Parts: sequence; C-alpha cells; structure tokens
Amino acid sequence: MYEQISHSLLNSILDDLRPEIRRQDLRHFYTRLGANFYAIHSLFVTLYGHRDDFKFQLLRLVETMARGYIDRSRELETLDIKREDDYNWFLSQKWVGMAVYSNGFAENLPDLESKIGYFQELGINMVHILPILRCPAGKSDGGYAISDFRQIDERVGTIADLRHIAEEFRKRDILLVLDIVLNHTSDEHEWAKRAIAGEQHFKDYYYIYDSRDIPDVFEQSMPEVFPESDPGNFTWNEEMGQWVMTVFHDYQWDLNYSNPAVFIEMLDVLLFWANQGVDVLRLDAVAFLWKKLGTTCQNERKAHLILQLMKDCCQVTAPGVLFIAEAIVAPTEITKYFGEDAIVAKECEIAYNATLMALLWDSVATRNTKLLSQGLKNLPNKLERATWLNYVRCHDDIGFGFDDQDIEQVGYEPRAHRRFLIDYFKGDFDAIPRGLAFMPNDTTGDARICGSLASLVGLESALESKDQKLIATAISRILLMHGIILSFGGIPLIYNGDALGVLNDYSFYDDPSKRNDSRWVHRPKINWAKAELRRKQGTVEFSIFSAMKKMIAIRKEISAFADFNNREILHLDNQHLLAFVRFNHLRPSELVLVVANFNNQPQFFDLDSLVPSVFSSLDRLIDLHSGRSPSQSSSRIVLQAYQFYWLSKT
Ligand code: GLC
Ligand code: GLC
Repeated sequence: MYEQISHSLLNSILDDLRPEIRRQDLRHFYTRLGANFYAIHSLFVTLYGHRDDFKFQLLRLVETMARGYIDRSRELETLDIKREDDYNWFLSQKWVGMAVYSNGFAENLPDLESKIGYFQELGINMVHILPILRCPAGKSDGGYAISDFRQIDERVGTIADLRHIAEEFRKRDILLVLDIVLNHTSDEHEWAKRAIAGEQHFKDYYYIYDSRDIPDVFEQSMPEVFPESDPGNFTWNEEMGQWVMTVFHDYQWDLNYSNPAVFIEMLDVLLFWANQGVDVLRLDAVAFLWKKLGTTCQNERKAHLILQLMKDCCQVTAPGVLFIAEAIVAPTEITKYFGEDAIVAKECEIAYNATLMALLWDSVATRNTKLLSQGLKNLPNKLERATWLNYVRCHDDIGFGFDDQDIEQVGYEPRAHRRFLIDYFKGDFDAIPRGLAFMPNDTTGDARICGSLASLVGLESALESKDQKLIATAISRILLMHGIILSFGGIPLIYNGDALGVLNDYSFYDDPSKRNDSRWVHRPKINWAKAELRRKQGTVEFSIFSAMKKMIAIRKEISAFADFNNREILHLDNQHLLAFVRFNHLRPSELVLVVANFNNQPQFFDLDSLVPSVFSSLDRLIDLHSGRSPSQSSSRIVLQAYQFYWLSKT
C-alpha cells in the first residue's frame, strides 16, 4: 500500500543508511521492503511511536533487515524466491515432522547428522532439533535459558556442525526447525550480567523493580507457570538489590518488548539463524511476550503486534522462512497466533495444535469421544496459508486446557473432570498409565501430566506384567493417536522415541538439576541397540515402527490430507467414535472418511446415519491405511477396540 507519511519516512531512512549497505545490490530487498513498509511502519508506531528516538529506532530496524539480507547466501535466496512462487508449499500432506534432542536422540550434532538415515527410513522430512544454544549447565530449563543467542552449546557441537546438518537436510528436502527463545534470557546472558553490573541500557531490556509495589500488583492477575518449583513471577536479585520479572524459572529473565532495542536485537537473532539455513523458526512461549498490569500477561494484543512485526520484517529479509507459534493456550486464543482480522496468516504460519493434543488424551482416559468431538467442532477455522502442527506428545507436559464450556456441554464439571484426568494418568484408577503429575498448584487445584506416550497409554505396565493383550492394546492406542494426527490436516510432529515405543526414563530423579522437573521423565536417551529391534518382526519396536512408517508413506499419497480447511467433523450417535471427512480442496468429490474407535470394545459405525451422507451402503470401501476392505455388513462397519480407518471408495 502507498501511504504518504510512511513512504516519505522510508525515503529519508534509505538516504540515511550506512554507505556499506547502500552500495550493495538490494533489489529484492527493496521490493519487499516497499511492499511491507506500510505495515511495518504502522506496527512500529503503535508499539513505539510515543518515543523520542522513534525515527532512530526505525532506521536501526531497517538496517538490521538490510544487513540480514546482505548476509543471506545465494542458495538461501534462491530458495526464498522458489517458496515465494509456490507460496502454499508447506500446506502439502508431504510434510511429516519429528522433534528430537541432539543429546538424547543422538550424542551431539555430528551424531545427529549420522542418523539422517533414520529420518528417511521412517519418512520424516521436517526435524525440530530441540534447543541447542549456549546455556548454563544445570540452570538451562532443557535449553530454554539461553546465555548466548549466537553460540551453540559446546557440549553438542558448533555452528559449523549445524550448518552442515542444514546443508545435508536441504539436499534431501528435509526442513530444519530450530527454537528461538524470544521471551526470556538466562540470568547469565551478557545483557543480564551487564544489567546486574548496573548498566541502565541493559536494565531496560528486562522488567526490574526497586520494591515489591509493582510486582505485587502484577502478581494479583498473573498465573504461575511453575508453581511448585518456581512460585511467583519475580525473583529478588541480591547483587542489584532489585526484583526481576521471571515468569518461568527464577534464572529466566523476561525480556521487555516495550523497549524497541529488545525487539531489534531479537529480530537480529532470528535473522541470524534464518541465515544459517534454518527453514522454520519455532518461537517459544509467544503468548507471554507482552506484559501489562492488571492482566494475566498472556495473549495480550501487543504480543500479537510484536509477532506481526517480526513476520513482516522476516519476510523482507528471508521470506522463505516460516514461524511456528508455541502458544499452549485456550483453543480460541491459539488460532489468533496465525493473525487476527486477516484472511492470510500474518503472524505465524504454523501453530501447535494443543487443543487437539489435549482432547486426544481426554479420549484416551475416558474411552469416549464426547469432549473430543465437541472441542473439535468448536475449533475455529484457520486463516489461509496457515497450518497446524499436530502432535500427541512433545518435550513438555500435557495441560488439559480445553474450553470449560465444552466440558460442561458434554456433561462434566470442569474442575472435577480435570482432576479425574490427572488421577487417571497417574494410574490411580487402573494402574495402567504411568504418568507423573507436573506442577500441582494447591491454590488453584490445577496440575499437568508428564510421561512418554508409550508409558501413558499403558505399554510400560503391560510389558511389566508380560500381558500380551495389554501390550497389543497399548500399541493400538499409539497407532490410533498417530492415525489421527497424520490425517487431521496440518503437519504431524512425532516426538523423539515415540515411533519406537520408548518408555518413561526415571533416571532424572538422580540428577539434582532435573529432579524437580518431571518433564525429564519423557526426555530419554534413545537406546540405539534396542532401536534395532524395529527391524525384527514380533517385537514391540517392529510393530510400532513398521506401522508408523506405512502410515506416513500412505499419508503422503493422499492429497485430501493436505491442509486447506478441507475437513468436516461428523456428528455421530456413537460416543466412542470420532469421525471426520477430508476432501481434496480442488476436487471435493475425492474424499477420505477417517473414523476411529477410542473404546476398548468393538463398535459399529453406520454409514447411513451420517449427516451429511458421505458414502452409501452400496459403496465398496477400502481402508487406505491397511489396504483392505473394512469389515462391513451393508451399511454397518465394525471397528475393533482402538482401531481406526482411512476410508475411501474403491
Ligand atoms: C516453552 C518450552 C518449555 C520451556 C518454556 C520456557 O514452553 O517448550 O520447555 O520450559 O517455553 O522457555
Ligand atoms: C509453556 C506452556 C505450558 C508448559 C510450560 C512449561 O509455555 O504454556 O503449558 O507447561 O511452558 O513446559
């Protein structure tokens, strides 16, 4: 858009650019800057327009983008242009992701590179390497307390190792995902150290207070993330004699985005990693980016504006790079991280589908799909050019953050129902699941759950009791849940050892720096000797791995599984089943009916009862996943316990 004020400002900024920038060939940069500058300028005015140094900061912002562009390699720029052409490239069903620890899945980065074959064997072509930047030992929150945003933790490797991985991935069409921890730094980051040493410039990067006056007001409305290990949202710093905002752990200092210098620094970090060849940046804890007195300090409008501005700026420098929003918040809030009041995604193109994840776990516990179907029906449609990251487990805990109204709608009382879920996964009812409670909050009664997928669905207890039937059930549940995330629409993200049925790892109790954080129970080291069993028929590893591999390969062939808001949740009378239709958005008659039984008993599914009717009783159906016709008697289809179908007409 052409708008006089921003345009003449841009003219003068371009005049003021440093000579070494002006001398470069910046054609693509200028066209993109011209296209986005109106938006960038308006967002920058809304966020920082009141400041005397506004124009100076805007100039620095443009310089940061320009320098990022100059540093971008030819190869990456070519990729940018290709992706700009084929702008829906990431909505394809061909993408399947996996999240791994460089020092858990592998020993370190070079070792991770040596395991590319494993990704290819399974069909993984998007790899999220969990945080690898420099962190203080022991006070790292699993890599999310960063002391240097431009260095890799020497225990796992070097930048050269990472660039090498990025190159090897690119050759094989595998996307690299890396974390950018936007919300906070470690208290050992140079900015924090200089703040402690008294430099006002760096104190202004954080929220630092002399007395409890303001912190106390904040506390009245702010929830706690880690109430058990790190109660409260502020930490007393002895050296400064002041209070610092620390929403997560006491060593994670929240960055203050009301300071444009912080925004510009973090944009620079983001572009730095984009230029190392990272395809997708996972923006950590985005809901927390803006703090405002009297609010929960989550999902604030300005947190969204910060993300929009980051997106607009990143598009100027590295338009091929995507953002993932890690916002584990209420269902109606999550979709806003694609961008509000827009048609096309304008914040993050991808968001964790925490709603689906939590609802799936509800169905595992209750063995019915009442809340799952209800919650999914209310899941708002996404914007165009936006997609979900669908997952069953990740490196974090499971929070049962569904909508209270949905819970009531299906006949449960929200607090009691959440209590039931926690108790269920702790194994209080039938000792089958082996979950650990995470951060129980005595004041609010809330808690979350940790545990590996396999242990939560009963594989650990089944293996102990050597009960073949229970083992088979646990495996079916693992496949069932993946059968949903692979067909739902969006990019499925498989976690670490889940394709091998890796169980809980209790060794974290022996490590004082991990003992108080039960998330470590599901962050195991992969035993690669045992993983070899995936090739040996009759083993648990084989059953899970070979089935997943097949599902992934088939998913990639089904164009109805691409993500174009082409899903309809069906209304069923049977409360143990979940059913939805996926159709090809270009040829809507090409459809796949996904139906899944979450119950431990066989269930019937009546094709004729479907509104809208999808298939008739006369149709000959095929289950794309098994390649067989379903057990069918006229319009009735039988699903065994925990079975799912991907049905299509033959
Ligand atoms: C994110 C990470 C989580 C971490 C938190 C604080 O939610 O996934 O592991 O504890 O941010 O950085
Ligand atoms: C994240 C999530 C929350 C999680 C926490 C620690 O920001 O919002 O669900 O428990 O970090 O993992």
